[in-house]
Amino acid sequence: MPTPRNAKLVVALDFQTADEALALARNLAPLAAPGQPELWMKVGLELFVAQGPEVVRELKRLGFKVFLDLKFLDIPNTVRGAVRSAVKCGADMLNIHAAGGMDMARAAVAARDEAYLECGGEAALGAKPLLFAVTVLTSMQDADTPILQGRPAAEVALELARATREAGLDGVVCSGHEAARIKQVCGPEFLCLTPGIRVPEPDALADDQRRVMTPEAAVAAGSDYLVVGRPITRAPQDKGGPVASAREILRRMVQG
Ligand code: C5P
Repeated sequence: MPTPRNAKLVVALDFQTADEALALARNLAPLAAPGQPELWMKVGLELFVAQGPEVVRELKRLGFKVFLDLKFLDIPNTVRGAVRSAVKCGADMLNIHAAGGMDMARAAVAARDEAYLECGGEAALGAKPLLFAVTVLTSMQDADTPILQGRPAAEVALELARATREAGLDGVVCSGHEAARIKQVCGPEFLCLTPGIRVPEPDALADDQRRVMTPEAAVAAGSDYLVVGRPITRAPQDKGGPVASAREILRRMVQG
């Protein structure tokens, strides 16, 4: 069994407006306390397409580390440019699709390294931004996904994780069901970031997620970062809303 590590919680700010995203981030800020799992914010396609890089800078000004989840997949030269722009806008973590192949992945690593140095490296930015590759989306399941060609998602995810490690990235986005095996094969330092987190309440919806897991199980499986969106952002107000939900997820992560 992998040792449970210092897993971090990444809240997916899937909103159309910066006001909604920043209001939630401000409400959650007091949960970022010593002894608690580190709290990050995620800017994904919905928010970034609507609001652009300024929202990343605003979240950084609030003191959060930011995962810019734009899942680049294009020819190597275009991904190189996109990664450079992402590093320059202050992302602490960014990602590409592993399905883009080795040349694209290596171009992304080179671009991340170059842009980090051009921005002043550690003195200016702190740690080098982490670069992840998406293996198999947690909304996909074996039977319904032509891209898997009938193979189990876990097998394809492991194969893509191996290639991602070989290309020099820091880790992969995978479901909690794949994290333990990926850690075993790629090594404990190779990071796993896991969306599709759900708490097992009777009314907890999986939404469009299929390969889901509880926070405590994902941490126990070795996931280093748990990405949680709707269970926090759409938590019902009569049950304490987003803050109560995030607190409960943090509690379960520590249990894990
Ligand atoms: O609302 P929910 O908790 O399902 O949100 C999960 C978040 O993680 C979304 O922002 C989604 O874009 C992101 N994500 C994912 N699957 C991946 C990579 C990212 O669900 N493979």
